[in-house]
Amino acid sequence: MPDVNSRISHIRKQLRQYEHEYYVLDKPSVSDAEYDDLMRNLEKLESEHPELITPDSPTQRVGGAPREGFRKVEHSSPMLSLDNALNEGELREFDRRVRELLKGEPFEYVAELKLDGLSMAARYDAEGKFILAVTRGDGTVGEEVTENARTIRSIPLVVPEEFSGQFEVRGEVVMPTRAFQKLNQQREEAGLSLYANPRNSAAGSLRVLDPKITASRQLDFYAYFLLKDGQYSGTSHWESLEKLTAMGFKVNPKRRLCQSLDELLEFIREWESQREALPYEIDGVVAKVNSLDQQQRLGWTARAPRWAIAFKYPARQAETLLEEVTFQVGRTGVITPVAELKKVNVSGVMVSRATLHNEDEIARLDLSIGDTVVVERSGDVIPKILQVKSKAIDPQPITMPKQCPVCGGPVVRLEEEVASRCINISCPARLKETVRYFASRSVMDIDGMGEKLVDQLVEKGLVRSIADVFRLRLEDLIGLERMGEKSAQRIMEGIEKARTRPLWRWISGLGIPFVGERTAQILARSFGSIEEIRRADEDRLQAAEEVGPKIAQAIHRFFEEPHNQKLIESLEFPTEEKKVITGHLTGKTFVLTGTLDGLTRDEAKSMIEAVGGKVAGSVSKKTHYVVAGEDAGSKLEKARTLNVPVLDKEGLFALLNA
Ligand code: IVH
Repeated sequence: MPDVNSRISHIRKQLRQYEHEYYVLDKPSVSDAEYDDLMRNLEKLESEHPELITPDSPTQRVGGAPREGFRKVEHSSPMLSLDNALNEGELREFDRRVRELLKGEPFEYVAELKLDGLSMAARYDAEGKFILAVTRGDGTVGEEVTENARTIRSIPLVVPEEFSGQFEVRGEVVMPTRAFQKLNQQREEAGLSLYANPRNSAAGSLRVLDPKITASRQLDFYAYFLLKDGQYSGTSHWESLEKLTAMGFKVNPKRRLCQSLDELLEFIREWESQREALPYEIDGVVAKVNSLDQQQRLGWTARAPRWAIAFKYPARQAETLLEEVTFQVGRTGVITPVAELKKVNVSGVMVSRATLHNEDEIARLDLSIGDTVVVERSGDVIPKILQVKSKAIDPQPITMPKQCPVCGGPVVRLEEEVASRCINISCPARLKETVRYFASRSVMDIDGMGEKLVDQLVEKGLVRSIADVFRLRLEDLIGLERMGEKSAQRIMEGIEKARTRPLWRWISGLGIPFVGERTAQILARSFGSIEEIRRADEDRLQAAEEVGPKIAQAIHRFFEEPHNQKLIESLEFPTEEKKVITGHLTGKTFVLTGTLDGLTRDEAKSMIEAVGGKVAGSVSKKTHYVVAGEDAGSKLEKARTLNVPVLDKEGLFALLNA
């Protein structure tokens, strides 16, 4: 049957690709529901044509290969997956099979929530100390993530003495929905690419080379199996969950011992309606036969245990029309495209908007206005568009605005960022945030000017830019809610004090992308005044310590923005003594090009700076010397056209030692 054969091999190929994207790359291109459907198709075809089953079929194994870069560790016993039931009928079928295999013996189910994270094994030594953590990987071999797992607070590093003796705990690593939202919000504001869902972000956070990153991600671990010598221990699953709890592991208390299929179905229904309120995402309910003896008799297939099943909740997805795209300006100026959808019911909730995150996401989805799209709702996360279902007959392209929809200022997309931003710091959309930051302790440290006061000042129109802070009068403040004369006086004094803060605090308060405290200090030290920084081109900016092209571009763009220019003019910035080292080359500007034999560019730069010289990035009429090494390029040519003296390494040394 040639067409069945080719159909099977086509599905396998597709599934392998999806598995690779999902398990290895953590970047799935299809929804779980779609993947499950395809797998079922293959299982069905293979069961009708068992002669076509090959050992390399996706039905014959659990997942994808572990990623390079981590030590690989073999599991003490395979970490298999579960078979799925997608509806009540399939669950009944599972129950019937168990009943049949147990020949009518009474049995119980333990019903647990199916957390949507990634499974992991944690091993403990004879003294009950945590020694090793391994991800599931392909089920036989996983990746060693001990140091990362150690940062997860819910994993005990040692268990009470009475429980010591080698053992292994298996469970699910998850990222709580709140933490996921916060992380993505931070990433969005920083212009970084976003995680698609809490599961991907848990996986990404556990499988990083730097454990510090894991530590910052608020991962959680829920234990659901206790193994001794590769075997489940005790007499029942429920008992082992209680033991795990006693040992100090986090075990989900939302579980139930069910005496019948009906009780199990009740648990499933209860949690389907309450899942939104949970602090983490679940995608179903896991039912396990409670007695370990019965479990053993039921045994395993090549894929999964016969004593357990995962009941999957239906995906909360629907198809609808993308009618329009609008743009929102966030509190840090990031511009987010928002999909305006034809209202649609997504499993009980009406949805009319979805976030599109950024320009790259629109391109990735290949989205145009008029397309029919698949929207998905998960947890209390804003709905998102998963894919285009069908293209519009007359698709209209989506373009990011060139002007900020709120203040009309220019929109820029900085190098290495996925976000487009409004960089006018007086833009009404970001004003509160700007002023709050400006007044905060680490910046201008204006005593008494906290979040609530800033909100009032902006809402009442008393502050329309940070310059207005310095125009506030005592009577403006006294008129505000819950403001006595004494506190108003204190704030006025705080503002007065702020006028005398050092230049770097003012620079830092401007909220220029990538310019934090440290860079502000460097800029203040190397330029001495706001005017000098403003006048500097990107090359000159880059001549300052630690200022690379990305920061230089952000600074330059900031000062180009007309609203910002106006604001700068209305502020009285202090100046600062330039901390330039003076020496016999003070006032001389050098440009380095090509490779200088035995001398790195940084070494050459510090040697020049040590005697007062400056190093710039590009050649102009103001350049005093060009130092050219091997493979010097266009800078050397430019030096020749502009008649700038050219030195080789020896020439430079002669000058430095003059
Ligand atoms: S039992 C062989 N219990 O769901 C037993 N799994 O679809 C396998 N999961 O790989 C695991 N919550 O990542 C089990 N309470 C729970 C679970 C759970 C989430 C995940 C786990 C597993 C997948 C199977």
